[in-house]
Amino acid sequence: MRRLFPAALGAALLLCAGGAWAQEDAPDAPHQDWSFAGVLGTFDPGSLQRGFQVYNEVCSNCHSMNQLHYRDLAGIGFDTAEIAAIAAQKQVQDGPNDQGQMFMRAGKSSDGFVAPFANAQAAAAANGGAAPPDLSVIVKARGKGLEYLWGMGGPDYVYGVLNGFQDKPPAGFNLPQGKYYNEYFSGHAISMPPPLADGTVQFQDGTKSTLPQEAHDVVTFLTWAAEPKMEDRKRTGAKVIIFLLAMTGVLYGAKRKVWKDVH
Ligand code: HEC
Repeated sequence: MRRLFPAALGAALLLCAGGAWAQEDAPDAPHQDWSFAGVLGTFDPGSLQRGFQVYNEVCSNCHSMNQLHYRDLAGIGFDTAEIAAIAAQKQVQDGPNDQGQMFMRAGKSSDGFVAPFANAQAAAAANGGAAPPDLSVIVKARGKGLEYLWGMGGPDYVYGVLNGFQDKPPAGFNLPQGKYYNEYFSGHAISMPPPLADGTVQFQDGTKSTLPQEAHDVVTFLTWAAEPKMEDRKRTGAKVIIFLLAMTGVLYGAKRKVWKDVH
């Protein structure tokens, strides 16, 4: 009995600590069906272009993607004229001119994606103190370990956050002013207002723009952005495995032949 007590106390303490942590943290977002998951997964071209549209019309109002240039959009099937038209809708600071002044001009294919805020401080000031993170590699940054390689982890999490807003926090949850309740964001109180809803964008290819569809497409685009060469990597990997298997067969045959008489 005397030995049992400290053990029980320890277990009780551990349970309490575990409980407190579980409240702080959020559940894992449910796994989605991604075309790019798995060893031979590929990006769905339609989804990539729709996803760019969602980023461009919605997310880019708050989130930069500093690793991307407009010309990179060739990688998701836009042609030169389309890319020039997309870039031309943006205003880019250039200069200095002959008078030494900076000036604004229309964007070009060679420009980097235009960021919504001049710096992190301005971004935070406009968003209740929390700067919207750059989305260039967010899918990888939020993946857990190697899960990302199979298309799980990061993509599921970002999809979960976009779909995980709740109008009313659960009873007893103290939601600070200016925050929104989100099922999958750590701590549940996020500074991002729900960015997507049914019909937030109009897809040109006739796909119905439901909230889950918009979220699915933008996550596909963000996954491509985080690793544009994913398809090449997987194809090379498959070739290497096939080569190694064939080589194993050849070497095994050679070994049998060489050792045939030595027994
Ligand atoms: C009105 C501004 C605004 C818009 C529009 C917006 N976001 Fe955010 N987003 C934020 C802010 C602010 C944060 C930081 C939240 C925090 O740290 O509490 C954030 C955070 C995030 C995060 C990171 C969550 C994490 O784990 O840190 C992701 C992912 C994200 N946004 C994706 C998107 C996507 C995708 C879109 C477009 C569909 C989008 N956001 C549109 C303001 C915005």
